[in-house]
Amino acid sequence: MGYDDVHIPVMAREVVELLGGSVDATGNSSLIVDATLGAGGHAVQLLKELPNCTVLGTDQDPAILDVARERLKPFGDRARIACCRVSGLPRLLRKLRVARPAGLLMDVGASSFQLDRPDRGFSFQLDGPLDMRMDPSRERTAADIINHWDESDLADLFYFEGGETRSRSIAKAIVGARRATPFRRTLGLAMLIEQVVGRRGKLHPATRVFQALRRAVNEEGDELTAGLDGAELFLAEGGVLCVITFHSGEDGVVKRFMADGAKRGAWKLLTPRPLQPSREEIRSNPRARSARVRAALRTGVEPESSLEEAAADQQPRERQSDNPQPGESQE
Ligand SMILES: C[S@@+](CC[C@H](N)C(=O)[O-])C[C@H]1O[C@@H](n2cnc3c(N)ncnc32)[C@H](O)[C@@H]1O
Repeated sequence: MGYDDVHIPVMAREVVELLGGSVDATGNSSLIVDATLGAGGHAVQLLKELPNCTVLGTDQDPAILDVARERLKPFGDRARIACCRVSGLPRLLRKLRVARPAGLLMDVGASSFQLDRPDRGFSFQLDGPLDMRMDPSRERTAADIINHWDESDLADLFYFEGGETRSRSIAKAIVGARRATPFRRTLGLAMLIEQVVGRRGKLHPATRVFQALRRAVNEEGDELTAGLDGAELFLAEGGVLCVITFHSGEDGVVKRFMADGAKRGAWKLLTPRPLQPSREEIRSNPRARSARVRAALRTGVEPESSLEEAAADQQPRERQSDNPQPGESQE
């Protein structure tokens, strides 16, 4: 199996162009943090096309880092890897004592490596445990939410995080069914949702509920906000923040953060409108269809709190790998 079967990097040309500007602009600092390293697709492109940069690749999923580690081996010590949540970056950077990064990439959401593996519990088409944790050290799984949340909380989750308009009927059916048998497997839940809402067009009827569950299990909204706030603290002057989102709510969060930052003088917008994939890219990689890329350049305006304060506020949530490898960051 080739690496493109694991995950095809989305809008890689645009990402390299945007982050490439930062490597030149910051001069003395050429470190790019890929905070959602995944299988390393974007990192490989950055390392190949920007010979002056080094990459610190981080991800919360230790299994996917094993793939990235193999893939980044040819780049030697230009690539370092650490297992870390986006929200833990200020603390990790402070511990590693690296120069202020020239770039930060966040390609938020799940990787095909995770979505396509039934044992990870993201799929409504392949049976697996109802799990959905990207970071296996998290305590709460999708099954915990489905089996223990109140009916009204479930309905709100499906509506607000998944855009599911039949959220109340689905939540009611789940609460009725779980009294007899708790939900343990993805297909059991997907089949119940299909019974409630039926088939509507091309989209699988469980798509929105599964998206909402994934976002809740992995606290994706909070993580995105923490990543944006962190970027303001730790990027070098002239450094570039580049974010790829796949969900209109997330794109709105990034848009507001960058617009507000531009008003405060802390950021300069590099993409007044979000970049979208070309038709050719969507044809060759349908998962790119909802991608939006936004980027902004960090000015010299000081943040309200310091990196040290932010790092001190954080719990030690970065995980250590079991097997440190050459080029791999350890706390
Ligand atoms: C869309 S994939 C990234 C793919 C990667 N850019 C590539 O080209 O191979 C998203 C990755 O981000 C990771 N991720 C998502 N949210 C995260 C978070 N809050 N902290 C750390 N990693 C996260 C997931 O585990 C997943 O591997």
